Amino acid sequence: MDMIKIGLIGLGTIGTGVAKTLLENESLIEDRLGFSLSLKAIADLDIEKDRGVNIPRGMLTTNTSLLIDDPEIDIIVELIGGTEPARTFIINALKKGKHVVTANKALLATHGKELFDAAQTYGKDLYYEAAVGGGIPIIKTLREALIANNYTFIYGILNGTCNFILTEMSEKGSTFQEALAKAKELGYAESDPTLDIEGIDAAHKLALVTSLAYGVPPDMHSVYVEGITNIDSLDVTFAHELGYKLKLLALAIDRGDKVEARVHPTLVPVNYLLAKVDGVFNAFYVRGDIVDSTLFYGRGAGMMPTASAVVSDLADIGRNIRAGIAGRIPHLGYRKGSSVPKSYMPIDDIYTNYYIRINAMDRPGVLAKIAGILGDRDISIVSVIQKGREDLDFVPVVLLTHEARESNVKSAIVAISAMEEVSGTPVVLRVEDKKLKNKTA
Ligand code: HSE
Repeated sequence: MDMIKIGLIGLGTIGTGVAKTLLENESLIEDRLGFSLSLKAIADLDIEKDRGVNIPRGMLTTNTSLLIDDPEIDIIVELIGGTEPARTFIINALKKGKHVVTANKALLATHGKELFDAAQTYGKDLYYEAAVGGGIPIIKTLREALIANNYTFIYGILNGTCNFILTEMSEKGSTFQEALAKAKELGYAESDPTLDIEGIDAAHKLALVTSLAYGVPPDMHSVYVEGITNIDSLDVTFAHELGYKLKLLALAIDRGDKVEARVHPTLVPVNYLLAKVDGVFNAFYVRGDIVDSTLFYGRGAGMMPTASAVVSDLADIGRNIRAGIAGRIPHLGYRKGSSVPKSYMPIDDIYTNYYIRINAMDRPGVLAKIAGILGDRDISIVSVIQKGREDLDFVPVVLLTHEARESNVKSAIVAISAMEEVSGTPVVLRVEDKKLKNKTA
């Protein structure tokens, strides 16, 4: 039979989903491709565990080399995650003349250049649709479907765990800790949720999206990251009163010879489509200069949605193999050396709108003093609400600003924190609202 043979390394959640898809939908896939994607072998440390899928016993091994060295295997799927030994497995598979499919965003966001260079050196494909947005085909979209466009910006909700927590805080009035506990109970958050709640998982994905969109190397360390661990339910409530929802937004923005890449909690107007992306769902709002606005929505994680993306890569590579080609589509969307050189903009240089909550004494002149500190730094106020309570010494004062420079906001916060009429450090959140853009009064 006409077939492409596949070796799967890692039979965890996604690996099991891939095995299930390939075994159960084999004939459908064959009808569409005209050849079959045939799972030949699976390597995992634990081959005794019942995965709930009817995998032939002879297909399983604990020895990864048996797959990488097998001359019959055309494509290796790496689904073990982490840096090592995943990196070595991928390099070795490429060296052995195999194409590779991975879902390993952390690895690609930190060692992407080395791995894509290796794929090019050995004339093989390294595909990674499942690394970003789970079942949403965003890599294919940015690299192929929207190839005609300059990307004005891409806004993403890229982490389901954080989106679930923020949705719970917004809809149920939960605290961050309560919402995190529920995310763990429902199996959305890992027992150690650090990568998710500190924004690191979203930053890994944004590093790849930024690279695909703008031709910069994927560089996790150039992405500005702030997670959601310090979000106070008070700010979720105030944001709502101002007409905003709080989302962990991942932003890639074209700024001419610079590109902004940042992940942080962001106030998004409640009437934006992205504000309506709730629970564990992910979404990408992509604005291209030719296509205008597009929105992609779906499950960003989970066994079967992620398996769907892995199998789409297998199908693409299978078609390339059948056509006798590799490297038909550049891994990061640009032919080597042909991209316009852009650099990442340091966070201190960005201009955006800010929400600032200050715990201040309810006394004459306090607001004037705060306004003076902001005005001295070219920060103009759009609106102020004071949530006054007569029995309290300090009351929350919430400000929205016009677009201001991040470094000026930081300096203002230091000065405001030092005021004797202010208690603690003000809360600062960025706002993404087109109604507030370019209107510095
Ligand atoms: N843990 C991620 C999330 C999925 O919560 O969206 C894998 O990147």
